[in-house]
Amino acid sequence: KTSDQTIKLVDLREAVNTDNIVEDLVNDLLSENPDLTASATHLFKGGGKYFRPTCVMLMGECCNTGYPDNDKQREIALITELIHVASLIHDDVLDSSDTRRTLQTVNSRFNEKVAILSGDYIIARATSKLARLGCSDTITILSSVIRDLIKGEIHQLNKRSNNHEEQLAMYIEKSYLKTASLIAHGCQAVALNSGRPHLQHIAYQYGRNMGIAFQLVDDMLDFISTSEAMGKAAGSDLKLGLATAPVLYAAVKHPAMNQLISRGFNEEGDIELALEMVKDSNGIKLTKALAQRYCDKALSDLKQLPESEYRTGLAVLCDLVLNRNS
Ligand code: FPP
Ligand code: MG
Ligand code: MG
Repeated sequence: KTSDQTIKLVDLREAVNTDNIVEDLVNDLLSENPDLTASATHLFKGGGKYFRPTCVMLMGECCNTGYPDNDKQREIALITELIHVASLIHDDVLDSSDTRRTLQTVNSRFNEKVAILSGDYIIARATSKLARLGCSDTITILSSVIRDLIKGEIHQLNKRSNNHEEQLAMYIEKSYLKTASLIAHGCQAVALNSGRPHLQHIAYQYGRNMGIAFQLVDDMLDFISTSEAMGKAAGSDLKLGLATAPVLYAAVKHPAMNQLISRGFNEEGDIELALEMVKDSNGIKLTKALAQRYCDKALSDLKQLPESEYRTGLAVLCDLVLNRNS
């Protein structure tokens, strides 16, 4: 038996056979217009982790235990990745980002108009794939993700508060909308399409808790990892005016942080000052501890699912989320 530490995301991908996943995704995006094909498939040439389809397929197999496999689940995993990539392409326009998955972003390699239209096109392809599943409950579940992604981005543009508890609660809600909703609803959809549809609610809960942990770690890595490791720019949240968990925790020890948060770190020296305050606080440690708590909740959700190697895989995934460096 392999110890948890030596199991990697690639091993989990193998366990659910995601071998041809990139080819299948690219095939779904081929267009008669070669320019559209090029821009829409661009990010699949980079080093994606394919974390979401792996998680969704593991959940599908876990709920299938003792039942035959279900082709619809693989389609749901692909739809999940398509929605994710579309949102990344749009996000890189909103954030004026240059690097994604170790490549130039679509807005940088092509231009902003092409990026917006390519993201729209991918959503269109995902939508028809979803319709072809022919299950209205699955359509309702997965289409709610697109609404949540947009709500999360709007939320991030507007919401400000001066109260620590309220700030943290709003930040968790935003993290759910922009990251966990996709993972949670992907897990729910495959459970609904398994031999055990009654497991959909617990599958959703697992995805929600693990997804929030994923975003907490992402926001921590923005402070402590490197652009090389992540394949996208590090240190970008403060530049975008975003107060993520490490900053919110640092503000407890350094109340002066709250002024910087309110003005979105937009004055000379604000970013350097904020970085100092994060360093001189427990911000990073407390962020990791909160991510650990969400992972623990996800692990306890798993106890309500049938035992199998796939359930073990979902537990390993929690560990990988928490201890990743990219
Ligand atoms: C990455 O966050 C962005 C998201 C997880 C969601 C983006 C969603 C939209 C732009 C709404 C439009 C949605 C669709 C489906 C077309 P980040 O900027 O914090 O992380 P990063 O460091 O990876 O850029
Ligand atoms: Mg963004
Ligand atoms: Mg971004």
